Amino acid sequence: MNNNFKDKLITIEQALDLVKSNDYIVTGLAQTEAVMFQEHLHKIADRVEGVRISTCLNTKEYEYIVNPKYQKAFIHESWFYTPTFRKVHGNGNVDFIPNHLHIASKNRLTYRKPNIFTAVVSYPDEHGYMSFLSAVYEMDMLEVADIVILEINKKYPRTFGDNQVHVSDVDYLIEVDYDVPQAPDIEPSEKDLKIASFIIPEIEDGSSIQLGIGGTPSAVARGLIDKKDLGIHTEMFTTSMAKLIKAGAITGKEKNINCGLHVCTFAYGTKELYDFLDNNPSVRINRGREVVNPSFIALNDNQVSINATLTVDLTGQCASESLGSVQFSGTGGQADTARGALESKNGKSFIVFHSTANAKDPETGERRMISKIVPQLPLGSAVSLQRTDVDRIVTEYGIAYMQGRTIGERCRQLIAIAHPDFREELTKEAIRLGLLPKD
Ligand code: COA
Repeated sequence: MNNNFKDKLITIEQALDLVKSNDYIVTGLAQTEAVMFQEHLHKIADRVEGVRISTCLNTKEYEYIVNPKYQKAFIHESWFYTPTFRKVHGNGNVDFIPNHLHIASKNRLTYRKPNIFTAVVSYPDEHGYMSFLSAVYEMDMLEVADIVILEINKKYPRTFGDNQVHVSDVDYLIEVDYDVPQAPDIEPSEKDLKIASFIIPEIEDGSSIQLGIGGTPSAVARGLIDKKDLGIHTEMFTTSMAKLIKAGAITGKEKNINCGLHVCTFAYGTKELYDFLDNNPSVRINRGREVVNPSFIALNDNQVSINATLTVDLTGQCASESLGSVQFSGTGGQADTARGALESKNGKSFIVFHSTANAKDPETGERRMISKIVPQLPLGSAVSLQRTDVDRIVTEYGIAYMQGRTIGERCRQLIAIAHPDFREELTKEAIRLGLLPKD
């Protein structure tokens, strides 16, 4: 195999010359997206039309996405909305793809094969190998795209798993040196710490954990510091997890599969996380179709999943990615990891949120306190986690247990963990809707 990556180097201008009208381009997820390519893409807007670009959890406000003057040139689709996508959704050239993480690449490949796949990887090593920080769908795209253009960056950590690319697998390389985009390690609030205090006693030593992004998972992670031999089987590897490994709480010794290894399908966090990952063979970044397949997750006993939601109805349906019909984020691995945990022997899945939101009125911009536990989901809400799959729901007022519980039992438990100001109204509505008996 030819290890000489220098033969494949091109400039950003040469890369952009490869793009034609109506091409379908896929870029990597979050910190694996091709930043340089996207920063320059708007420069070809006057010579192309209808170039469709698929992104997921994009990290920057690229000109080609946010400037309405490029609407004819580019069509956008995303599997996970960010503030940028929420802002441009109404532009007419932006759309959302409903999707479970573990079938992301399978769905995409069956429906539409990319003309160009572009992403960023670590700098080639002496054997000509580079690594992705995400293998959610990137390896699958690389294998089928007509043209593969990768950005190589010395600032990206060298990682291991089913995320290795050899220079001979790639058509072109562009040398770049931007910093790895970071996800902040959010400082938990009082409410986050309260929620964590209910969850931590339920997590046994030796459990395998999945933690989502945000303040509450971070609060839970802090509380896990005194646990023993925890393991990691997660979609996203976070800064909190790196801290727990360094502190000795996570060893992976009790895992049934990938014993002693920390398994994820992408890693997204702070510089502390990226430094920890660099040349660290204990962390495996494997393909999303394997890692977050619920049947595979379930192979570990005591699998724990912790995810957040926006709105829950009194029967336990979780609208985690939309506010009514307005797309907010995406399903990501929420349903996959919750189902996997539920199938695992002695597994547990937690849905966490603050009982209220200080919601902004879309018309007036005024803020008012609303309950996130509601009698019925607002019209058009996307149910990310079905009531049949939901297990434990947690607010700062306690835990509501859903599995095996009747609708009436669910209502009573959920009302008990709603904010006290809303409990009476929720009870009245539950009776009116026939969810609870009249007396
Ligand atoms: N009604 C109206 N507004 C609401 C609301 C509700 N029920 N719930 C939240 N909001 C508002 C908040 O007030 C806040 O607005 P602001 O930014 O103007 O203050 C905003 O929505 C974000 O709420 P917050 O609870 O802070 O969201 P978050 O950043 O912690 O993210 C999820 C929570 C649920 C959106 C996020 O975890 C998610 O997308 N989950 C689904 C996917 C998933 O879990 N995947 C697993 C990991 S891949």
